[in-house]
Amino acid sequence: MAAVPPFHKRDPDTMTRIVLSSDHAAIDLRQAVAKHVQAKGYEVHDIGPTTPESTHYPAHGEAAAREVASGASDLGIILCGTGQGIMMAANKVKGVRCGVCADPFSAAMIRQHNDANMLSLGARVLGEGLALEIVDAFLSASFEGGRHATRVDMITAIEA
Ligand code: RB5
Repeated sequence: MAAVPPFHKRDPDTMTRIVLSSDHAAIDLRQAVAKHVQAKGYEVHDIGPTTPESTHYPAHGEAAAREVASGASDLGIILCGTGQGIMMAANKVKGVRCGVCADPFSAAMIRQHNDANMLSLGARVLGEGLALEIVDAFLSASFEGGRHATRVDMITAIEA
């Protein structure tokens, strides 16, 4: 497989594939997000789960993160009760920069300044309306580069 270029060196206009995953606490909100982003024209790969049995957020965070890190998806949106645990798991995968957001401003900023390639949401924290506004802010923003690229490269250097 061809090497995936550093995320901030990719063309934002081609970033149309989104992987979604959650644990049991966030199935309904994940499905609402899937419907919302599909309606906006994004190609969605929803990797579940679909049944409400208690499950383990690290596995779902890792699975979505590996898809983003491999380039199979351009961006990821992951969810658990708080958004925190699944974000921690996703950020262990090399090449992933995932932030938990509870407001649209932060969601735009993690793209603009941190070149985040994944967004994490807390289904027990957010109502659906606010969650979808956060998703829109994340998807509408793009990386500003410049001094921010230097800092993102410093994050990547920590992984090495
Ligand atoms: C599951 O009960 C809960 O711990 C999980 O969804 C998440 O909030 C962990 O960070």
